[in-house]
Amino acid sequence: MIAVRGNTFFLSTDNTSYIFGVTDEGLLEHYHYGKRVDVSDEAVTDSVRAMREKVSHGKGTTINYAKDSLTVTEDMLLEVSSVGKGDLREPFILVRYPDGSSTSDFIFKEAVVLDTPEMLKGMPSAISAGENVKQLKVVLTERVRPVTLVLYYTVFEKCNVITRRAVLVNSEKENIVIKRIMSAQLDIDEAGLKAITFGGNWGREMKRTDTIVENHTFVNATASGVSSNRSNPFVMLTKADATEEAGDCYGFNLIYSGNHYEAVDVSGFYKTRFITGINPQNFEWVLEPGEEFETPEAVMTYSAAGFRELSLNMQHFVKKHIVRGKYADKPRPILLNSWEAAYFNISESRILSLAKKAKEAGVELLVMDDGWFKGRNDDTTSLGDWTEDKKKLPGGIEGLARKVNDIGLDFGIWVEPEMISEKSDLYEVHPEYAMTVPGRDNSPGRNQMILDLTQPEVREYVKNSMRRVIGAKGVSYVKWDMNRMFSDVYSKALPPERQGECAHRYVLGLYEILKALTEEFPDVLFENCASGGNRFDLGMTAYMPQTWGSDDSDAYERTFIQTGYSYGYPMSTVTAHVSACPNHQTLRNTPLDTRFNVAAFGVLGYEINLGECNAEDFKAIKAQIETYKEWRDVFFGGDFYRVDDTQWMVVSPDRKRAVTMIWNGLCNPNEFYRKIKTVGLAEDKTYHVYNVKLRHNIKQFGSLVNQVAPVHVKQDSLMHNTIAKFVKMDGEVEDYTVSGELLNNVGIKLTQAFGGTGYNQETRLFQDFSSRMYFIESID
Ligand code: DGJ
Repeated sequence: MIAVRGNTFFLSTDNTSYIFGVTDEGLLEHYHYGKRVDVSDEAVTDSVRAMREKVSHGKGTTINYAKDSLTVTEDMLLEVSSVGKGDLREPFILVRYPDGSSTSDFIFKEAVVLDTPEMLKGMPSAISAGENVKQLKVVLTERVRPVTLVLYYTVFEKCNVITRRAVLVNSEKENIVIKRIMSAQLDIDEAGLKAITFGGNWGREMKRTDTIVENHTFVNATASGVSSNRSNPFVMLTKADATEEAGDCYGFNLIYSGNHYEAVDVSGFYKTRFITGINPQNFEWVLEPGEEFETPEAVMTYSAAGFRELSLNMQHFVKKHIVRGKYADKPRPILLNSWEAAYFNISESRILSLAKKAKEAGVELLVMDDGWFKGRNDDTTSLGDWTEDKKKLPGGIEGLARKVNDIGLDFGIWVEPEMISEKSDLYEVHPEYAMTVPGRDNSPGRNQMILDLTQPEVREYVKNSMRRVIGAKGVSYVKWDMNRMFSDVYSKALPPERQGECAHRYVLGLYEILKALTEEFPDVLFENCASGGNRFDLGMTAYMPQTWGSDDSDAYERTFIQTGYSYGYPMSTVTAHVSACPNHQTLRNTPLDTRFNVAAFGVLGYEINLGECNAEDFKAIKAQIETYKEWRDVFFGGDFYRVDDTQWMVVSPDRKRAVTMIWNGLCNPNEFYRKIKTVGLAEDKTYHVYNVKLRHNIKQFGSLVNQVAPVHVKQDSLMHNTIAKFVKMDGEVEDYTVSGELLNNVGIKLTQAFGGTGYNQETRLFQDFSSRMYFIESID
């Protein structure tokens, strides 16, 4: 809901309010973003008076906003800030005018509530075409220059989300230069908040870092060209002592896939400013007379009840307003990806033998990863040449797809369309397509260069080459990869004074391509990937409903990575695979059931040579897939909760079915106790809680087998292996029928864990990296 009362704007969602107004000088003063407050018509005047900054005397070493004014913009909560009028904090906007000056002073002109929202033109948005959401449009004009700044606020009531974006219009007779323009700014009247950010590196995405910002500026940003694994654009700003269940928390994200910048700036007056938008580093946009520049859309949410509610807001919002197309609400196929099974050793026969085993296991989609196109035997060649290697695929993509379809599986294919290898036909013919700086050697990443998507003909090349691959008969899934950071950012198609536009124009070019291809192929399921999660963001998610969360498929590592994503993204956007052990990234061994349990909480896939699995593992994988199919709608459509550091839970929207999982890091002897509590179950329902009966391989007990064996068994001997093949130890059984109230508030004390003091069938074997899944069904 949006209410305009005089010069005050009240934006409300189900649980939050966002309120701001106009000062006598025409500045936009921010009053409140937080818990919903409803102000009656009679109370408006006094409520606004109560919420406004009071000024009666000057303030030390500050600049007054104007002559005869005591207003100090540095000590006010503002909706937008600029430079030159006394506000010394991180600005929202910085423009260089034709006279060389950079002072801006944007003053309120008018505001209107739109029933039909105005849409972004060149970037993805939370608003789908034709969607009926309320939008507030606020128009500000520069006090002395003919330049207009338009602010858009869109309210998503049910998800407790408000989005913001801005448009700058140049009505000067000459060019102006935008040095910085953010998407959103939030000023808060306290310091010492905690910035919670998520980043890492390749294989280590989304590690949570907490930083209390008492003073100065804390920045979460990237200039890598992609939203990056170093610093995801999703950021939380919370009370220092906020927890999963309590405390004020703000969550922000940006619907953008390039260089982004989030700053938490605490002023000398103990006020905190948060801004998010395109990274100003190496950004400079020349705006000609009559032209406008639009920023990406920023997403904001607030929870008065800790991280959990904030994450639910974000999950619901992303599912409902970002993910779109045929697969938005459709549980995804279980796939087998060839990468860790075969790497570049692709051949028709290898793919078909993987497909046969995959079919037998219950897999639904076979994905041929890298290595299938002309001359691609390692990562040094061929990017850009999107024709099949006939030596590897004699029947081409379509011939292979047909054979995979005949086996009873869908067929998917890997591409990396934004790249060019120096060793490629494309580079021979069109070296100018590569993003390089004339006269300089290019700094390669993974032996490849980036195609300059700012050039229209390069975009056409990418679209056309992809039309051939994606449009091949039998292709129903595409993994769109991107495997390097940017270097040598330069476009030969732009004049020198416009090179600061290059990185953003690249993103706009990419969006143009993605829009065209996803609209042309609405039945194809697209998976986003950038060496794992190097471009996991809401911009890509608006085109591709799922993203390969990390190249790290180690189940234990994945518990941290997936937990990181869960703060800001629904798990239905994060793909996760069961892979071989020792794991290819860590050489760690984790139990097969843990690999499944962790992957099942994302969008499940396998990335393992099923043909080389032993019979026991293959049987277990078959059973996993059967279980997953029974529970897929819950994993996919349910609300995800972090119950504690080693427990996840997912609950169906109707609260009738749920799954929870606990896991272990390193186990300790003589430690036995574990309780599971639940979150999100209906307290008036009765639930059946049970685990899947496990059958333990006796080899897990090593030479301890001799404590029960009638004859001595030498460890790893033929006898030991033979016994292990035929004799299994039954695992513990957990089976209860109890109320949701008891589960949520008291919990279940599980069977005693193995602690080095004995084992029987009532013992939970919970060794290093073990896990358990518990299924919960309402019996009402
Ligand atoms: C990086 C991806 O993250 C991997 O899954 C795989 O597709 C490789 N690229 C292929 O080169």
